[in-house]
Amino acid sequence: MRTLIATAALLAAATPAAALAQDARPSQTATSPDGSLVLTVSTDNDQRPTWSLSRKGKLLIAPSKLGFLMADRVGLQRGFAIEGADKASADGQWELPWGERRFVRDHHNELLVRFRQDKSWGGHTLNVRFRLFDDGIGFRYEFPEQEGLKTAKIVDEITEFDIAAPGTAWWITAGEWNRYEQIYQKTPIDAVATAHTPITMRLDDGTHLAFHEASLVDYSGMWLKRAEGRLFRSTLSPSSRGPRVIRELPFNTPWRTIRITDDAAGLVESDLELNLNEPNKLGDVSWVKPMKYIGIWWGMIRGDWSWAEGPNHGATTARTKQYIDFAAKHGFGGVLVEGWNKGWESNWFGHGDAYSFTEAYPDFDLKAVTDYARKKGVTLIGHHETGGNIAVYEAQLEDAMKLYGDLGVRAVKTGYVADAGGIIAPGDAPGETRMEWHDGQRQVQHHLKVVETAAKYKVAVNPHEPVKDTGLRRTYPNWVAREGARGMEYNSWSAFANGGPDHEPTLVYTRMLSGPMDYTPGVLSLVGGEGRPHASTLAKQLGLYLAIYSPIQMAADFIENLEKHPRELEFIKVVPADWADSRLIAGEVGDYAIFARKDRNSADWYVGGVNDGTERTLTLGFDFLDAGKTYTATIYKDGEGATYLTEARHKIAYETIKVKKGDSYKLWLAPGGGAAIRLHPGK
Ligand code: NOJ
Ligand code: CA
Repeated sequence: MRTLIATAALLAAATPAAALAQDARPSQTATSPDGSLVLTVSTDNDQRPTWSLSRKGKLLIAPSKLGFLMADRVGLQRGFAIEGADKASADGQWELPWGERRFVRDHHNELLVRFRQDKSWGGHTLNVRFRLFDDGIGFRYEFPEQEGLKTAKIVDEITEFDIAAPGTAWWITAGEWNRYEQIYQKTPIDAVATAHTPITMRLDDGTHLAFHEASLVDYSGMWLKRAEGRLFRSTLSPSSRGPRVIRELPFNTPWRTIRITDDAAGLVESDLELNLNEPNKLGDVSWVKPMKYIGIWWGMIRGDWSWAEGPNHGATTARTKQYIDFAAKHGFGGVLVEGWNKGWESNWFGHGDAYSFTEAYPDFDLKAVTDYARKKGVTLIGHHETGGNIAVYEAQLEDAMKLYGDLGVRAVKTGYVADAGGIIAPGDAPGETRMEWHDGQRQVQHHLKVVETAAKYKVAVNPHEPVKDTGLRRTYPNWVAREGARGMEYNSWSAFANGGPDHEPTLVYTRMLSGPMDYTPGVLSLVGGEGRPHASTLAKQLGLYLAIYSPIQMAADFIENLEKHPRELEFIKVVPADWADSRLIAGEVGDYAIFARKDRNSADWYVGGVNDGTERTLTLGFDFLDAGKTYTATIYKDGEGATYLTEARHKIAYETIKVKKGDSYKLWLAPGGGAAIRLHPGK
């Protein structure tokens, strides 16, 4: 009651009487379209803005504070009153130029709450815009133009998420040297430390949650730090400039998001973050082509070839032509070539000062290979490893992208191999540099600069050691994929380095919620450097094409190894990288994931996915098929006795059967196994 009177008195001083009746309400509420989520926005006894959320009548997020710590003034956290609010609703559909599905429904209710701060605390205005969907919520801060605050110097954002019920969390540690390339931890929610997002949780009542952010533009990435119990608070990726974010007003922060669903499938199928991103800014993007690709790559990762010139140089003109021939013969759209450009001979990891992005080693003729590729209907996929040195890269960026554009190189893989905090950015004076973070504001700016420059020359971008995905592919559809998790390459460096077979069925429900990943499946030999075995059966390599989405899907193994497996190669050739629809038809977080995906360019469906280390038998229902059609199902599955633990990982079985809508199929998944099925109407 005291708060209410104080608020009313404050507002009486600041606003006309007519507005007072409405504005004096101490809290604002909104619901999701189906009514299951109820949001309450309020202020607490210290006039701190708070929000809370319930779902189906149960408290989900207990009152949690909103606010900022600032470098040059008292933080924006106390002395606020709700000055007013606006509501809106939307129900529409928009189209993805490529992706897991073609059409996305955006159905939400919106609440914009306008907070005004008492003069004694700074007198600032801060708006918070909430959007409630049936499968989650997003909100962002909006800093409107105002007297006395021209430049926001944000020391930290202190947005709270006080999770009301216990459960389990799957997460990786934020701020660690290896960026996002970690094995996921599975712990009780109240044992999480400081986590990257997406962080996935399953409450004891079965509710599934994934915390993340959408539209990370000109801001620092959000980490979630557990303060106590199940109370999490945002903390932003650091910056060498002191304040973690510096922005001129007006501006909006990224959206803070929570997917909230009954089951694992709901979590995976949600388009929450995409819906919170801006529509396509690039116009016609028909030049962005989903494809499968091979590359001069696995040989370097295994240590057989080198990036730098020398006796084992991977990227020679001759080998590139051989790979182009293979790609053309088998219908691969692209050939990745790493190590063609000068600079690899230096201490490139974390330095990158010797890189040229336009000059080739003497044994690589860029013009000749791109001419050859063009004739064969294949594109080269270029490569820009920076060693984390964006000062060197940005100075050459325009020329480097123009070169690729002119030569018809339609995609580039970029790389930022440096420890966390090891991005070398341009400083204030010429020649000066400063150290930044892979997910700090400066690197976030850098990525967009690369994507926009690439777009000018019709080049798609696939960064490794990237900033996390926050759905920006909607706005910039040439941002096709990225790494941002422990990829296939780790299997080359040590046996079962990906934490064993749990890794991929965990990625599906964590990293993959953020967007496409260049995981690089298709190591059919199942061995890495020095013969190290993979924690995977052969069928699982095919299942990865269904489990881990990317519009550019690699077949990572040496072409000689792909050729040794003609039946598996046949599947990799036909499996699409662009879908009309995608559904998770069986799966649990960290255990297994089986998708049904509908091809965008034919009537075919594909089913498949990955298993963890526990063998299991699933009954798959073909309810998604078109009624009245008979499909020929070509099945690749774990052979009897297959297990990732022994040489039996190579055991695969094939089957061809007829199926129709409503049929079901019993599928055995080996420990570390997987499966892939092509469903083609007719023969
Ligand atoms: C690490 C990337 O993940 C890998 O794919 C690449 O080959 C190396 N960096 C070199 O750029
Ligand atoms: Ca990497």
